[in-house]
Amino acid sequence: MNEPLHNKFTTQAKIIGLKDLTPTVREFTLELPRALPWSPGSHLPISLEVKGFKTWRHYSLTGATHPQRYQFAVKKLDQGRGGSMALWSLELGELVHVGTPKNHFSLDTSAPSYLLVAGGIGVTPFVSMVQAIKAQSQRQKSPAPSIKMLYGARDEQELAYIDFFRQNLQATQLHVCVDDKGERFDFRAQIAQLAPKTQAYVCGPQAMLSAFRLAWSDSERALEDLHFETFGTSGAQVNEAFSLKVPRHGVDLVVGQDETLLEVLERNGVQTLYDCQRGECGLCAMDVLALDGVIDHRDVFLSPHEKSSNQKICVCVSRVCGTIILDSAYREDEIFVN
Ligand code: FES
Repeated sequence: MNEPLHNKFTTQAKIIGLKDLTPTVREFTLELPRALPWSPGSHLPISLEVKGFKTWRHYSLTGATHPQRYQFAVKKLDQGRGGSMALWSLELGELVHVGTPKNHFSLDTSAPSYLLVAGGIGVTPFVSMVQAIKAQSQRQKSPAPSIKMLYGARDEQELAYIDFFRQNLQATQLHVCVDDKGERFDFRAQIAQLAPKTQAYVCGPQAMLSAFRLAWSDSERALEDLHFETFGTSGAQVNEAFSLKVPRHGVDLVVGQDETLLEVLERNGVQTLYDCQRGECGLCAMDVLALDGVIDHRDVFLSPHEKSSNQKICVCVSRVCGTIILDSAYREDEIFVN
């Protein structure tokens, strides 16, 4: 693949720590030769070789914001696109290339109160967020803003950072739900209890984000107080192969079950702008010329209205059941003169 926009600069990092937080979540610690500052909510691009191809994957940074030390946690997905398996095969002391951290989920440390909502591996950015909120109030010698956290996972042993949150939040601040026990958060009830001007930060699977976003907009709270990101791997439909045509490039292809639209486009010479590869920045959105089937929109960039109109698709994460015909931004007759 071509380099994403922000990966023109890369540096080598050494794996100095590996820690299994759960049977399927491993925490990696990397050390860099020089400082590359980052802030809570940032994600780190990592260059990996997946199934014989060089590609980039992005992982939310976690832990303290040390400028030369990066920590992130990766959930092993046997049926995923291969990035997690490639990372899990790495050993202590190995070197990896990383790009500059980017933040599409930055924390506003001036909020009077916070609601943090984490689903599964979506919990990772909240470790540094909780640390930052507490550190800020200590620096200012002011009472800590109120924090409430809703942390959900499929089963109890997948609550990867539960010990950290139990140590750093009071029992009344931390609410846990486990799918296996039939527990579910009532987002509407939780939102109704929030103080005015509370900022909500939500990270987790797409279905959870959609439910929360709906409950938030129905509550008539300000949309700018809602911040969310996803990890772009989960959608309403299971991953299946689908057909892709790009008439402008004479392309008629199949997107396999374990590859993204973006990967297939790039591999077949259809150059596409992209950056985050997590469905957040919107740079990869392409025009839909025709659709025979349904789009499983997995991004958090397009609005609900844009998603329902199916005129655009974020090709880094979204998928299709059926056939889709896309147009690219490429125009043969466009000549730029300075
Ligand atoms: S590259 Fe950012 S949304 Fe697709």
